[in-house]
Amino acid sequence: MDSQLLNQRPISSILIIIAMQTEALPLVDKFQLREDVGSVFPKEVPWVRYHGIYKHLEINLIWPGKDLALGVDSVGTISASLVTYASVQALQPDLIINAGTAGGFKAKGASIGDVFLVSECAFHDRRIPIPVFDLYGVGSKQAMSTPNLLKELDLKIGKLSTGDSLDMSAQDEASILANDATVKDMEGAAIAYVADIFKVPAIFVKAVTDIVDGEKPTAEEFLQNLATVSAALDQAVTQVVNFISGKCIHEL
Ligand code: ADE
Repeated sequence: MDSQLLNQRPISSILIIIAMQTEALPLVDKFQLREDVGSVFPKEVPWVRYHGIYKHLEINLIWPGKDLALGVDSVGTISASLVTYASVQALQPDLIINAGTAGGFKAKGASIGDVFLVSECAFHDRRIPIPVFDLYGVGSKQAMSTPNLLKELDLKIGKLSTGDSLDMSAQDEASILANDATVKDMEGAAIAYVADIFKVPAIFVKAVTDIVDGEKPTAEEFLQNLATVSAALDQAVTQVVNFISGKCIHEL
């Protein structure tokens, strides 16, 4: 449908993309979603679709599933971009919500348990020091502007930097600083890239599990806080979905 027309009618279908099972399952319960049986995805992929109707919204929640060889959550940009591409093709959502945990920078005002709405996404591990390719590597994309949503819910706002590592090299750190990011994840900019190609509005909700510029080792702090911060994330996503219900894109 014409994007002008889409803007004028209430949002009817949302696609929620969540990389980790711990983050996804409480929302599956909350929205009373059912696991898809005859999958819309090829039989070879581990991606899982949960779907249902919640407050008049058709919700598709996609979790990229467990890596087929190693049995851990398929985190990172490759799975994220593939599932986003396939989901947009199959489900034609009005809006994408990428929800997940993130590292936060205390120097930029982030604390453990904070939930951020993202204003802009970029990559920090695609360094191509050749004119114009450098900008392509950074791949900066605006998230959809949602001033009313931001006002209504008590969320912080900040820029997101994405890379395929949980830890942070010195080079990553310099790029994250250049991206002016407050939060750091492993999927957002990849999802933003696909959303931008297909002109599907996308918002990013990121909850802070670890302080990247703090004293504690990242992996330890992340695992320690994953369950409690996932609960805060899920509460925020529920509030976002409740706010979206009955509204048009331009009202967010
Ligand atoms: N997800 C949670 N914490 C993260 C971090 N420090 N870096 C990337 N992704 C994360």
